[in-house]
Amino acid sequence: MKIAILGSGNVGGTLAAGWAAKEHLVAIAARNPKSDKAVSAATAAKAQVMSIADGVKWAEVVLLATPWAAVPDALAAAGDWTGKILLDATNPLKPQLAGLELGTTTSGGERVAELARGARVVKVFNTIGAPNMADGDGLSMLMAGDDPAAKAAAATLAREVGFEPVDLGPLKEARLLEPFALVWITLAYKQGFGPNFGLTVRKR
Ligand SMILES: NC(=O)c1ccc[n+]([C@@H]2O[C@H](COP(=O)([O-])OP(=O)(O)OC[C@H]3O[C@@H](n4cnc5c(N)ncnc54)[C@H](OP(=O)(O)O)[C@@H]3O)[C@@H](O)[C@H]2O)c1
Repeated sequence: MKIAILGSGNVGGTLAAGWAAKEHLVAIAARNPKSDKAVSAATAAKAQVMSIADGVKWAEVVLLATPWAAVPDALAAAGDWTGKILLDATNPLKPQLAGLELGTTTSGGERVAELARGARVVKVFNTIGAPNMADGDGLSMLMAGDDPAAKAAAATLAREVGFEPVDLGPLKEARLLEPFALVWITLAYKQGFGPNFGLTVRKR
């Protein structure tokens, strides 16, 4: 697949490297493609660098992994989203991880779908810390989205970095996935687990 990474920090940089290693064509879609940060993110991931508009135009799948406050600008910079599979890993976190900016009756995932009109949005890669994304080690990767083909692509990409995908249903279930991310954050940073763990759905 041709995958553009919109936000190449902890989450985007790790997944870019994992997918490039699986022989996907990966591009860092950067605000400033000539910046040292963008070039070193691409070098580390063995990816190419493009502008946001060029990267989204080129890609079949786009990973959104910017801070929540940057989401409107990042999505607007892309131009036309029609038909693109958009994997939304963001969480609408308040500063200092002090809860969510929105939720319950809507979600960040639904807001992303409004802003990236025409994209096939899947909420995924938001419920577990980035250090686990180099190798999911069989941990569950919960996802929600309205488009079956987009969710199938998300499931393939989750499996390729070691996760077991779990489909929670339509995109509005992002209302559950975003507060669920706070469960991981609370265990990691308030309850002493540290970042190297995840949760698994186990049938019995
Ligand atoms: N960290 C985790 O463990 C984790 C886990 C799951 C989900 N998440 C969510 O994933 C998202 C990214 O987290 P992160 O920790 O990976 O963030 P990060 O390391 O701070 O990286 C953010 C990336 O977004 C880019 N960016 C910032 N503003 C932008 C804009 N206006 N347009 C385009 N790109 C922009 C940054 O580029 P520059 O370098 O140019 O600033 C950087 O590459 C957040 O929404 C977070 O809540 C994080």
